[in-house]
Amino acid sequence: MPTPLPPDWSDRLALDRAHVWHPFTQMQIHEADPPVPVVGGEGCDLLLANGERVLDGISSWWTCLHGHGHPRLVGALERQAGKLDHAMFAGFTHEPALELVARLRPRLPANLTRAFFSDDGSTAVEVALKMAFQAQHQRGEQGRDHFGALRGGYHGDTLGAVGVGELENFMTGLFRPLLLACERLDVPEDPRRELAPDLTGWEARLASARADLTAFFAAHGKRLAAFIAEPLIQCAGGMRMWPPELLQELRAQCDVHGVYLILDEVATGFGRTGTFLACEQAGVAPDLLCLSKGLTGGTLPLSMTWATEEIYRHFWGTPASDRAFLHGHSYTANPTACAVACASLALFDDEPVLARAQALGEAMRSAFATLATNPAIRQARTLGAIGACRLVDPTTGVAHPPEQRFGWRLHRRALDQGLLVRPIGDCLYLLPPLNTPPARLAEAAETLLQLLDA
Ligand SMILES: Cc1ncc(COP(=O)(O)O)c(C=O)c1O
Repeated sequence: MPTPLPPDWSDRLALDRAHVWHPFTQMQIHEADPPVPVVGGEGCDLLLANGERVLDGISSWWTCLHGHGHPRLVGALERQAGKLDHAMFAGFTHEPALELVARLRPRLPANLTRAFFSDDGSTAVEVALKMAFQAQHQRGEQGRDHFGALRGGYHGDTLGAVGVGELENFMTGLFRPLLLACERLDVPEDPRRELAPDLTGWEARLASARADLTAFFAAHGKRLAAFIAEPLIQCAGGMRMWPPELLQELRAQCDVHGVYLILDEVATGFGRTGTFLACEQAGVAPDLLCLSKGLTGGTLPLSMTWATEEIYRHFWGTPASDRAFLHGHSYTANPTACAVACASLALFDDEPVLARAQALGEAMRSAFATLATNPAIRQARTLGAIGACRLVDPTTGVAHPPEQRFGWRLHRRALDQGLLVRPIGDCLYLLPPLNTPPARLAEAAETLLQLLDA
């Protein structure tokens, strides 16, 4: 039977225009500016239908860890799909899920002993929120019907996750009547991550942020089931890097007030920040940990929510006790995705992936030092292998008005020059696969400088 797909990309794009609804997109823009056909992935590059090769400077939404089409991940996928593609996980268990638990657990804080599987970052967060709420309820703390979260955080697009996130451009405002009750706390950005930091008054600002945090818990601590945060860096919030000292204080205040601490490492996990988990850098262990994106090296959707034994215990009981966690998804612990995740973790054992991430971090710092020479760039900063800066109008020093869609235009021009970047508002960042050759970052910085000059 012939494929129903037309042979030419122009007709394929007409099909896309007629029937496909893309994520995070005002579809009208694709009338003039159609989506870019991508046909392959090789190492740190994406291969476009027009024959161009572009550096995946944002790891395809922060997922791709060891490069595209890594033979070990692809091999694991093929082998597992041929053996057991999928099986329901209620009442069944299988090797790939167990191997994944065995491989991952020694790399996590020791207090996290129980793994719950789901499909993506948003569902990992939903699971954590529901677990925290139900655990509080079942330990007799029924009044804890609020959550705490950092201002400017992002935890996904399902309603629970939107409720603890706070980005107006993700329509949090519109959906407010449908959302969880959430109290929000401000934390300052950490100037010590900047290439040219101004540390004047920093100690005082840090002390005042610490006092605000204590006051926040004094005011809301009794009502909170859990506090959720992206450790050290709020990614979708514009790569806002915040101080490890405040994460330590957050842990301490959660303990004082009986609030569970959920750390969302969906974006930061698996070496992105230079350590396996970002929370390691603050010496903080959460009560619930959300992982996804890099979990499978970016090949298949999968996520996990890890919980402490103390939380798990609150769900224990006879079937009649109504204490079980009645949550699950059709593809929970999909064996193929678990096998790919095992292959990705095996690479951490067999290759110096973290050392590579640290070396990439050094290259990232030089790339942003180069970028920072341009007056259109402000506040260049890095954390591990993540680099970010603010894009401003060099004549006024302030951000370009949103209606100019400067970031989008930069994104499209950069693609023409072999680089995928996708600024978030005025935040330009690079977060490439960890096996990106450092020289490619220097090239990316040069490309961006030329585009900014143009
Ligand atoms: C910190 C964080 N949590 C959760 C999510 C949601 O993950 P997903 O898009 O896989 O649902 C994201 C996505 O960017 C994220 O950055």
